[in-house]
Amino acid sequence: MTTRPAVARAAVILAAGKGERMKSPTPKVLHPVGGRPMLDHAIDAAQALGCQRVIVVVGEHSPAVRAHAAARLGEEAVAVQDPPLGTGHAVLAAKAGLAGFEGDVLVSYADTPLLTAEAVAPLFALRAAGADLAVLGFEAACPGAYGRLVLAGEDGLTRIVEAKDASPEELAIRACNSGVLVADASLLLDLLGRVTNRNAKGEYYLTDVVGLANEAGVSVRVAFAGEDEVAGVNSQAELAAVEAAFQARRRTELMAAGVTMTAPATVHLSWDTKIAAGVAVEPNVVFAPGVIVEAGAVIRAFSHLEGAIVRPGAIIGPYARLRPGADIGEGAHIGNFVEVKKVTVGAGAKANHLAYLGDGSVGARANIGAGTIFCNYDGFDKFETHIGEDAFIGSNTALVAPISVGRGAYTGSGSVITRPVAPDALALERGPQAEKPGWAAAFRLRKRRAKGLA
Ligand code: UD1
Ligand code: MG
Repeated sequence: MTTRPAVARAAVILAAGKGERMKSPTPKVLHPVGGRPMLDHAIDAAQALGCQRVIVVVGEHSPAVRAHAAARLGEEAVAVQDPPLGTGHAVLAAKAGLAGFEGDVLVSYADTPLLTAEAVAPLFALRAAGADLAVLGFEAACPGAYGRLVLAGEDGLTRIVEAKDASPEELAIRACNSGVLVADASLLLDLLGRVTNRNAKGEYYLTDVVGLANEAGVSVRVAFAGEDEVAGVNSQAELAAVEAAFQARRRTELMAAGVTMTAPATVHLSWDTKIAAGVAVEPNVVFAPGVIVEAGAVIRAFSHLEGAIVRPGAIIGPYARLRPGADIGEGAHIGNFVEVKKVTVGAGAKANHLAYLGDGSVGARANIGAGTIFCNYDGFDKFETHIGEDAFIGSNTALVAPISVGRGAYTGSGSVITRPVAPDALALERGPQAEKPGWAAAFRLRKRRAKGLA
């Protein structure tokens, strides 16, 4: 085979199936894996492979999928297949979207979220080496309903036979079709134009292009991926299994990059979780999307983080909650039952116990006492609280926003602070304490007598 010069790449992602076995009001391909919709995983892989044009084939029945694809890629990236008459028919629905495109087309499915660019790359390598059509196969532990690959020699492919149309001998084949293929755009559309629906399902099978390609005398080659990379999602149980595989993969990657996890199986990650080498993550921590943890930080047990940045050496938890916009400074401590939302916490500041910090900022080295609340919401609007550097917020202080506490100032425990506090002042809002000497002893005596106990 001769090596061809690099050509342009496009992708057609099939997402027009009904996904009925999910039994969910949410369209199948919008279900998240690692906190990201499956459709986006498919688009990510296509873009990572350098596909400049990505067409998503959607059904008339799921406007949400259409809107999702259009929001990410633009209206021109959406092709509607109505009604869905099979995978081959689905790729043909992208014909208008591919108008004017010359080069290689990748066909993939939106319900195969574990598929990586690395797993697909060998197909482009086969194309570059002269194959006209390259198919991604895998060895199935249980071939079940998968299409079977009728192989020819080491990496040749005679045809793909769908399970429902297969003979007993063909059903015994373990080499299966992942559904992913790469072909020259005009060749693929030409072959698809010749596909019929004369088969067990009465559908236009994409897989028939393999037999047609061989009849036309063009070359078909196959590359193999791991079964875990091509696993598809058709039910909630399969979604959970794919999520588990995704989690295992991400944990392995992070540990390989130097993250310490005492009980990795209990750590839940997102597709975009960034954790620096040397960070320690204790058991039962959830990283929802958008979290960055920098070097030397410790995330202690049972913490939940989302949309937050944890800067070097900070300690989070146990039992802490960081919500979107939490920015925890170098060496700062956020302790048990502390919730932080949209607050920048300065270097070395501490909020160690039972607090709500929402909307605002905490200066470097400030100390936030147990039970402190940023009262940020009046039922209609949100307001900010700003605490200066080195300030000391006494336990159980309610800070009624908008409010500020100057640098180095103190608030007395239990105060409800409604006016700005000047730097280095003490603000105290508390009723004077009354004391009645001997009252408690007299009270007890009276009560015990009344009950006949004394
Ligand atoms: C398909 C393959 C089979 C392969 C298997 C891998 C065909 C004929 N068969 O079978 O060889 O082993 O995938 O999982 O291609 N879709 C549309 N429009 C349609 C029909 C399907 O967009 O009219 C989309 C679905 O949303 C899905 C993908 O195409 O993303 C695959 O469809 P599905 O019905 O799951 O195909 P399988 O029967 O699993
Ligand atoms: Mg399927």
